[in-house]
Amino acid sequence: MNSINGKTRTLGLIGNPVAHTMSPFIHALLAEAMGINAVYVPFHVEKGALEAAIDGAKALSLLGNNVTVPYKVDVLPLLDVVSENAKMIGAVNTLKYVDGKSFGYNTDVDGLKTSCLKNGIVFEHKTVCILGAGGAAKATVILCAQMKVGKMFIVNRTIEKAFQLQQTVQKYFDLDVEVITYEELTSIEKLDICFQTTSIGLHPNSNISPILSPSFFNKVEWAVDAIYNPSETKFLRDAKAHGAHTLNGLGMLFYQAIKAFELWHDVVIPDAIQKVSFQKFNDFVYNR
Ligand code: ATR
Repeated sequence: MNSINGKTRTLGLIGNPVAHTMSPFIHALLAEAMGINAVYVPFHVEKGALEAAIDGAKALSLLGNNVTVPYKVDVLPLLDVVSENAKMIGAVNTLKYVDGKSFGYNTDVDGLKTSCLKNGIVFEHKTVCILGAGGAAKATVILCAQMKVGKMFIVNRTIEKAFQLQQTVQKYFDLDVEVITYEELTSIEKLDICFQTTSIGLHPNSNISPILSPSFFNKVEWAVDAIYNPSETKFLRDAKAHGAHTLNGLGMLFYQAIKAFELWHDVVIPDAIQKVSFQKFNDFVYNR
């Protein structure tokens, strides 16, 4: 890490809890690789103290923040300017302070997009399904719509939330979006991409999957999980065993940080640095 001195800029994660965040590691890695004098630290913010935290961040001339659970939605009305993506998704994960004004962005969409594209996933005209209708699902449906998929299915245990997500997409995009149940999912003929955005399969529950019948994956080209711990969920294991290509959530996490870093520091991180840094991050997460 760069040595801290009078010119060091401070950034950090606002959330509750924040103790398990990987972001300080990523941002220290990127700052060092890019020769930028900045530190990134966790900020545990108690319930009810979000507005005070944002005011404090501005007053202390922080360069920016990431925002995580449970504040990604609550932070919206506290901001001076909110990006189009963040408005559509209804959630902000990145803040930048400029001349006392707060700007809110959502770089989760960028993170998922870069991770998918770097792995060769094609969206245009494809048939996709999204399992889940929570925070991660919102970024996923907006990305799929922006990337001009041909047809989208949304599946969620609580069907009302799936309908809400359908409405959100159709408010902004002219796209064929259908809400179906997990049972109905099995009767779809072919799926180009199946996105897993629920919390099912998250460590330590690595032996459960939202897809109960693994033969489902015979008709799936790509299985993409938002989870990165474990590195291979049961969802991804089953998908791989039935011939689908698989991608876990580590890239999404890494590339949302890349985009936030670029926004904060007004830089473009060269591909070579991104590649080496991702490898180091991957080793840090899985080979510790
Ligand atoms: P995140 O921000 O990670 O997306 P979230 O907003 O809490 O988290 O959303 C969690 C998602 O996982 C939801 O879609 C949730 O389904 P419900 O809307 O029905 O709650 C889904 N989920 C969590 N546990 C589940 C389970 N046991 N069965 C089916 N879906 C589950």
